[in-house]
Amino acid sequence: MKTEIGIDKIGFATPEFYLDLADLAAARQVDPAKYRIGIGQDEMAVLPADQDVVTLAAAAADQILTASERATIDLIIFATESGVDQSKAAALYVQRLLGLNTAARALELKEACYGATAGLQLAYDHLLAHPDSQRVLVLGADEARYGLGTAGEVTQGAGAIALLVTRQPRILVLEQPTAYHSEDVMDFWRPNYRREALADGKFSTEQYLRFLKLTWADYQQKTQRHLNDLTAVIFHIPFTKLGLKGLRQLTASAPNDLQTRLLTHFQQATILNRRVGNLYTGSLYLSLYSLLLFAELPAGARIGLYSYGSGAVAEFFSGRLVPGYAAQLPPAPEVSAVLDQRQRLSVADYETMFAQQLTTDGSTAATPSQSVNAPFRLSGISAHQRRYQKNGGQNQ
Ligand code: HMG
Repeated sequence: MKTEIGIDKIGFATPEFYLDLADLAAARQVDPAKYRIGIGQDEMAVLPADQDVVTLAAAAADQILTASERATIDLIIFATESGVDQSKAAALYVQRLLGLNTAARALELKEACYGATAGLQLAYDHLLAHPDSQRVLVLGADEARYGLGTAGEVTQGAGAIALLVTRQPRILVLEQPTAYHSEDVMDFWRPNYRREALADGKFSTEQYLRFLKLTWADYQQKTQRHLNDLTAVIFHIPFTKLGLKGLRQLTASAPNDLQTRLLTHFQQATILNRRVGNLYTGSLYLSLYSLLLFAELPAGARIGLYSYGSGAVAEFFSGRLVPGYAAQLPPAPEVSAVLDQRQRLSVADYETMFAQQLTTDGSTAATPSQSVNAPFRLSGISAHQRRYQKNGGQNQ
């Protein structure tokens, strides 16, 4: 049998608190249609102090991994731009929390929202190069923070995606070649001394679209495929309106029926993103998850994926859906219900949560017990060390 490599399982986790953007619009004295239509977002996830990228990623992976998979993962890649330590990889905390194989490489990767795609391609190469390796865990987790009252505020969010990458995968077979492009661009960045990102907002949207043009042209040239060869195209989604602009750019001269098909699938692919906000590096894979949950796609359907990370690196690649892929995923209503059950915050409570800070002086401090449903919590900090626990359990 031909060796195929790709995504075998997908897990997703997001905080149990959210802000309705109609409430934010009222507080910021903005027409709510600007957020809903102009930006294309309805709600955004808000991260409490007892959650971070480690607890989110652990929750996303915990829901998909069996005991035998935990014992045989030999590479754990944690992609994030919201890292909790300048030295130690967040992958190691997750390894311990989930009881993952210790005969494994574990590391952290960063290139803004492109990080998880770098991780996915690295996982592909690892499985190709090491016939004995069975599976790789790729985690993408972030908190998107711009600051209260900033232009980017409405595009905040938080969450994690876990991808189990294997040979003979049961969801998506990754295809080669792929098309990538990188350039030193100052469109969005976060100096080490800041918790909030800085963005040259409009310029960043222009770079996103310019890199899309470059990588899409390169993908077509390398693969000799065209728009009609793709059943759906999905995008990195900092906010859904930008993905829509990307789609319009790709389909500008496409026939009507092709435009309609791709637009329908784009809308299905952004149902979850509209409610969670920017996950940064997980956003493209949240969009994939949304597409697979809410669309009925034929086996073998080819999906185009556009990954963009500010700074900037972009990649256009594709994958083919495996027959029976839906059996690998939860029913869509189950995932929607998790979002429905989140606690809606008032703007005042969101602002308080946003301002919460952890100690930085080495003293011992417990975090407030805010998360009730999350399987893991950051319980506090002591001696400059983060203390994690299974919710309701002991510190680990
Ligand atoms: P803004 O000041 O809100 O922009 O900033 P705007 O005033 O141009 O309004 C936005 C849109 O709303 C416009 O539509 C308006 O017309 C429309 P467009 O011209 O774009 O089609 N609008 C309305 N629509 C309906 N009813 C109304 C109404 N009023 C106005 N009443 C900006 C927007 C995106 C710049 C800001 O939110 C921002 O700075 N966001 C953060 C940066 C960002 O997300 N950049 C995306 C590209 S970079 C990227 O994707 C990477 C990233 O994920 C990070 C990483 O890689 O790690 C960010």
